[in-house]
Amino acid sequence: MEEALNELKAPFEGSISEDTDYCKNVPDPIHKLYTGNNLPILKYLLGEISGEVKVIYIDPPYNTGSILNYHDRFSVSYKKNSPLKRAEDFDEWLSKPSADHSPWMSFMFPRLALARKLLRPDGVIFISIDDRELPRLRLLMDWIMGEKNHIGTVVWRKKVVRGRGNRHIIPQTEYIVCYAKDISILPPFQEPLTDDMIGAYTKKDEMGAYKEIPLAKSGTAHSPRPNLVYPIIAPDGTTIHCPTHQWRWSEKTFRERQQEILFRKTKKGVWRILTKQYLETADGLRYRTPTSLYDKVTTTDGTKELQAISGNGNFDFPKPSRLIRDLISWATTGSPQPDRPEIILDFFAGTAPTAQAVIDLNREDHRRRICYLVQDRIEDPRHTDKILELAKIRIQKARESPSDGSMEDQAIFPQGFRLFHYLPPA
Ligand SMILES: C[S@@+](CC[C@H](N)C(=O)[O-])C[C@H]1O[C@@H](n2cnc3c(N)ncnc32)[C@H](O)[C@@H]1O
Repeated sequence: MEEALNELKAPFEGSISEDTDYCKNVPDPIHKLYTGNNLPILKYLLGEISGEVKVIYIDPPYNTGSILNYHDRFSVSYKKNSPLKRAEDFDEWLSKPSADHSPWMSFMFPRLALARKLLRPDGVIFISIDDRELPRLRLLMDWIMGEKNHIGTVVWRKKVVRGRGNRHIIPQTEYIVCYAKDISILPPFQEPLTDDMIGAYTKKDEMGAYKEIPLAKSGTAHSPRPNLVYPIIAPDGTTIHCPTHQWRWSEKTFRERQQEILFRKTKKGVWRILTKQYLETADGLRYRTPTSLYDKVTTTDGTKELQAISGNGNFDFPKPSRLIRDLISWATTGSPQPDRPEIILDFFAGTAPTAQAVIDLNREDHRRRICYLVQDRIEDPRHTDKILELAKIRIQKARESPSDGSMEDQAIFPQGFRLFHYLPPA
């Protein structure tokens, strides 16, 4: 870890040069793609966008125990499977993170610490991870971001498998660890209602579409609130007591929002109190809070998406852009601030699903989120296709093929990328 701290403290060295040919015919290119080792590039970005990034999404290389080309200046060596012969050996072993995990943690630590500096006060970081490194990542992040800033961990059902396997438990989930820079000022995450949910707003009055929901709160009382328990006088003068542990509204709200209250009598003559819930609120269309289970897309969708774009591009398990798009939309649904565009950063960009996510989302809601990507130029020998080339193809296709088929948006907001290369010191 000491080496990792030194890595963090060392100043930016080398240079960044722009490849001006890359997007010379694209007017107003606002997004940026950097190629090279993300450690010095993150340091460079501190000079450009420190404290300004709204969302970071990363999908770091998982610790597979095999070749991991970290190419930082240090290396952690250990003897695999070395027997712990003496008590001192065991003490030493206990005082370190497990040797298998140490290089991965040392690799991630300075990058995550720099990522924190890049986030704006109401910024968020999402990190994809498998269950092997999940505990280590949580420890690192609790340390770097503060335990209280852990927003939650999303379980992504990445594939659907059933039946017999040759292992004890067939893995079909992965995780997205979410931390805020400062959870106390982070607005709640919001997710659009599904079509089915919107379809439930079947009634209408002068205020718009609404549905009726019971005033009595369902579920069990985890933290009962006495101000939510009070008798209500029915239109026939009888007293209605809350049939569950509490009402949803306080007595004050109940009195103030009389026009939204409906008294209904059941066939058995029992009073029920309902409230009108409108589809549109003063802040726009009603949203819901995302849950910790995500199962809208699978890795197969990610693979198909990349193949459709690149014509059989070969890359193991690219993330489906829809997953990243949804995460970004949870955290960037506030009112648009043209003077303060929301920056989205992915510094393990791979085949650039994050670029596709940002481009699609901007096109969908006519916002100008700005995307920064960083991807290494060193190729992973497991992939026959060049990752950077796949990223460039994806960016181009996403820009040129609006999902709604219209070219109008492209003309207004072409969403071009500028390309920069990191050059290490000679
Ligand atoms: C798990 S993959 C990301 C995949 C990506 N989410 C996708 O769906 O295509 C991690 C990526 O990080 C890149 N990478 C690894 N170490 C890096 C480093 N030090 N600097 C920049 N990129 C790096 C690898 O080349 C790899 O493409």
